Amino acid sequence: MNQKKFKVGIIGATGMVGQRFALLLENHPWFEVKVLAASARSAGKKYGDVVEGRWHMTKDLPEKYKDMVIVDAENVEEVASQVDFCFCAVNMKKDEIKALEERYAKAECPIVSNNSAHRFTPDVPMVIPEINADHLEIIDAQRKRLGTKRGFIAVKSNCSLQSYVPAIHPLKELGVNKVLACTYQAISGAGKTFKTWPEMIDNVIPYIGGEEEKSEQEPLKIWGHIENNEIVKTDDIAITAQCIRVPVSDGHTAAVFMSFKDGVKKPSVDEIIKIWESYKGRAQELELPSAPKQFLHYFTEPDRPQIKSERNLENGMAVSVGRLREDTQYDYKFVCMSHNTLRGAAGGAVLLAELLCAEGYMD
Ligand SMILES: NC(=O)c1ccc[n+]([C@@H]2O[C@H](COP(=O)([O-])OP(=O)(O)OC[C@H]3O[C@@H](n4cnc5c(N)ncnc54)[C@H](OP(=O)(O)O)[C@@H]3O)[C@@H](O)[C@H]2O)c1
Repeated sequence: MNQKKFKVGIIGATGMVGQRFALLLENHPWFEVKVLAASARSAGKKYGDVVEGRWHMTKDLPEKYKDMVIVDAENVEEVASQVDFCFCAVNMKKDEIKALEERYAKAECPIVSNNSAHRFTPDVPMVIPEINADHLEIIDAQRKRLGTKRGFIAVKSNCSLQSYVPAIHPLKELGVNKVLACTYQAISGAGKTFKTWPEMIDNVIPYIGGEEEKSEQEPLKIWGHIENNEIVKTDDIAITAQCIRVPVSDGHTAAVFMSFKDGVKKPSVDEIIKIWESYKGRAQELELPSAPKQFLHYFTEPDRPQIKSERNLENGMAVSVGRLREDTQYDYKFVCMSHNTLRGAAGGAVLLAELLCAEGYMD
């Protein structure tokens, strides 16, 4: 896009995802960070001072943010008056997040949210740009409900499903109707590092609160359709999931089993790999700045994809797949992996914001 940069704010800028936003937006070709907002505890202080000792990124804190003074996220009008839209990643109660995001939308400041609070609000699009970019059309209905001209909320989905939903998506229209996914999730998904969560060293925890419901239900909305100003979940696929926390810093892996509807002609292993390798979504068509050139990368080696070698593929925005083979109970099984704080969190939200800009929703 050949135009002036959009002015953006980061709400929750001091947190794990907020820090990732700050890094991703440091030299972004379309976006310029104008406001860093967080809780009243941090407001009025310099960003560099607040994140000192709790900077979780491997790359150093960029100079440009160090002296920026943090604004209280509750000062909605103050933030909204300085930006074209905001990213939001806050750790608050769900109803408080819902109310805060709506206040921003009603102040005509669009919100691109990393939070789960609005994922099931029927007129809030939950978008993976390569999969359901068409759901942005619901924004007109949402604006009508909110009484806004510009303001709206758009959300990205949970990090756990961003490894297996992309791989299932191009096969869904060929008749996949049953999926079992076991996810092996990194500790950064809980906003933690090994320093702040030493119990995770040499450990596995077989429970992540709320994650299995999200993993099973969110894809149904992503694959849903718009009807009467709402996104209606699909009922042509069933997913069951188990989500397990593993001692990995970044990167969620999923072991997936899938079956096709009775009576359909199932593609062969080679055909499925070809479908994955050639799949392109709206993000690739529009050549969005954060879009991976290739969304799905298939690895033929029996011991790939691995966290350490694959998580940063295409700046952490590509999804890695491997070990596709026939199964004795389901039709096929495979393994996939994606970076949970890049593709699965801040990177996915930045890509969604790019899509919204390219499609004219931020004008
Ligand atoms: N980590 C991940 O990989 C991941 C992935 C997907 C989704 N998420 C979601 O993203 C959100 C943020 O996660 P995180 O891991 O970045 O959390 P985090 O590290 O705990 O950071 C939370 C942020 O929220 C701010 N905050 C807390 N209470 C607030 C309040 N009352 N008003 C305004 N700001 C407030 C904090 O500001 P102060 O520093 O001032 O307290 C901080 O900036 C959560 O909803 C989480 O579920 C996280």
